[in-house]
Amino acid sequence: MGSLDSPRERENGNGGCRSPGDPKIGDGGMMIVVESEAMKKRRASMLPLEVGTRVMCRWRDSKYHPVKVIERRKMPSAGPNDYEYYVHYTEFNRRLDEWVKLEQLDLDSVETVVDEKVEDKVTSLKMTRHQKRKIDETHVEGHEELDAASLREHEEFTKVKNIATIELGRYEIETWYFSPFPPEYNDCVKLYFCEFCLNFMKRKEQLQRHMRKCDLKHPPGDEIYRCGTLSMFEVDGKKNKVYGQNLCYLAKLFLDHKTLYYDVDLFLFYVLCECDDRGCHMVGYFSKEKHSEESYNLACILTLPPYQRKGYGKFLIAFSYELSKKEGKVGTPERPLSDLGLLSYRGYWTRVLLDILKKHKGNISIKELSDMTAIKAEDILATLQSLELIQYRKGQHVICADPKVLDRHLKAAGRGGLEVDVSKLIWTPYKEQG
Ligand code: ACO
Ligand code: ZN
Repeated sequence: MGSLDSPRERENGNGGCRSPGDPKIGDGGMMIVVESEAMKKRRASMLPLEVGTRVMCRWRDSKYHPVKVIERRKMPSAGPNDYEYYVHYTEFNRRLDEWVKLEQLDLDSVETVVDEKVEDKVTSLKMTRHQKRKIDETHVEGHEELDAASLREHEEFTKVKNIATIELGRYEIETWYFSPFPPEYNDCVKLYFCEFCLNFMKRKEQLQRHMRKCDLKHPPGDEIYRCGTLSMFEVDGKKNKVYGQNLCYLAKLFLDHKTLYYDVDLFLFYVLCECDDRGCHMVGYFSKEKHSEESYNLACILTLPPYQRKGYGKFLIAFSYELSKKEGKVGTPERPLSDLGLLSYRGYWTRVLLDILKKHKGNISIKELSDMTAIKAEDILATLQSLELIQYRKGQHVICADPKVLDRHLKAAGRGGLEVDVSKLIWTPYKEQG
């Protein structure tokens, strides 16, 4: 399967995409001169571009793609119209939003200014009730509780990425989204993380000094799984508040539709590490509410970008279901799922369910599938429906599993990912102490 962020995928379904060399006006000599004078005037009159303007922008694939101007900033020591623009590529995920120079924008393609108020209404309607509730409950440091009314302000505030890169262990990683670091980090473009305690610093020298003192070599919690060089640590947010908060700040840089919880007490963090003689290096994690009324078995999941597409995501998902099995419960990930989250879950559900259907002889119900896998019945139904394996006969859903069709779907579901060896999992479900 191709990458969601590859130019090839982007070109697909991108009707508005054209090359910079495409002719814009006719070949007639005089006409061009007259036109271009008029154009020049028109261009000058629209500068600097307003926030909300829609225009075509040259992307790193050298092709032009439609964008919306999200923000603008004056370039240092520049003329009156010398601005940089923060743009959102309307066909792509927000993680690709970036600052661009004026010369990347095709001013001849400028469209009408968007009515921001109308757009905001649509976004707020799209929010699920659960998201609203979460936003209502969230405490943001230095801010009042975010209610639905101040959400727009919050969205406004989070639309431009604040930290561009982070250093973590041996990796320098480009970030994807805004993360609400404390105000003293407002002026930082790059942050330096201790890969073990996840404390973050403004300068490299501070990190170097910290590394000489920091005695942690793995996440501060219980190692509940070890298989080869892979270890999973369970970190209780109540016992390790600062670590939990640091992890949330870090994760938010790669998670868009998640509200940051400062109340990490309510969560357990499952941190996956690759271990060597220097220590246990974080690969990714998932968080899980200690008590979930909605049967969520996973709140947020992240594989750090240098480790993505190697099967760790599916490992983390499989792990979350193994924990649910030990609890004797069915589980489901918290919604909304991101684009990559949905792809990973769809792949996981498809593989697990179709593997069972392939081996199973005779009838099997969704309830039985759910009991075997700890996958919530709704997710099973949705997966099988999306694969067109469900028919509605005589008032009930029937699974239709032709072995050839199953094989075809299994092939399309991608690689299996890294296996969880359940015999290496030593864990008992969370119980409140005292
Ligand atoms: N392009 C296309 N398909 C992709 C991509 C991509 N960039 N990334 C993942 N996939 C699909 C593929 O089908 C892939 O299987 P394949 O490699 O066999 O084809 C499958 O998803 C999962 O691949 P893994 O290697 O197991 O997953 P990975 O380690 O890359 O982690 C994850 C997936 C956790 C979603 C990662 O992309 C990530 O951290 N993203 C940022 C945070 C995020 O969006 N988290 C989910 C939010 S929803 C929630 O938290 C409940
Ligand atoms: Zn440290």
